[in-house]
Amino acid sequence: MIPENPLQDEMIEVSPELKLKAADDIFVSELHQLILKNRQWLQHSLNWPQFVGSEEDTRQNMLSNRLLHQRGYAKMFLIVKSEEVVGVLSFNAIEPLNKTGYIGYWLDESHQGQGILAACLEAFIRYYSQQGEVRRFVIKCRVENQSSNRVALRNGFVLEGCLRQAEFLNGHYHDQNIYARIIDEGSE
Ligand SMILES: CC(C)(COP(=O)(O)OP(=O)(O)OC[C@H]1O[C@@H](n2cnc3c(N)ncnc32)[C@H](O)[C@@H]1OP(=O)(O)O)[C@@H](O)C(=O)NCCC(=O)NCCS
Repeated sequence: MIPENPLQDEMIEVSPELKLKAADDIFVSELHQLILKNRQWLQHSLNWPQFVGSEEDTRQNMLSNRLLHQRGYAKMFLIVKSEEVVGVLSFNAIEPLNKTGYIGYWLDESHQGQGILAACLEAFIRYYSQQGEVRRFVIKCRVENQSSNRVALRNGFVLEGCLRQAEFLNGHYHDQNIYARIIDEGSE
């Protein structure tokens, strides 16, 4: 049975046309189609798209993310531009004691290069730092993933180091850069 969803209306307004909407069943079909459309391309940078089969897989994934979202151990938001789902922005994990959140993101290939992720990330960070829920925001990305490294640098993250062979992708273990931005409540 699908539990009641108190997240249904949770939303972070980025701009009049850009919103982050909490994971919800109503987005399953649209998100699934977006994943299928981008699967081959996403597979160059993320490991999971190859495992997405039916719409039911996307529904189950959304459901487990929703439960983690409700419990505060992860967050999953759809990036919605003019009522169209164009990507995902998440905390893949939150360490509540350490107030640390590990950020993940992807965009529809054709929506890159417009600053959509940059604007969403800024609003997302502001929202969670103001709530006092997260103060250390972390991005881990493959050293070779140039667009993702640029996202971190453009959004004020500081490179803290390189984790050796920390990410398994397409049959190989890749080095990962770790970036963080620390914001204490009310400091920005
Ligand atoms: C990583 C990813 C989300 C970055 O997308 P993106 O469009 O480059 O990022 P943004 O939305 O922040 O846009 C920034 C780009 O738009 C341009 N831009 C245009 N208008 C802009 C504006 N108003 N503000 C900021 N940037 C703007 C910037 O110059 C920049 O382009 P550049 O990197 O060529 O200089 C995207 O490439 C992706 O989904 N990749 C596959 C999945 C992935 O790698 N996820 C991360 C795993 S760690």
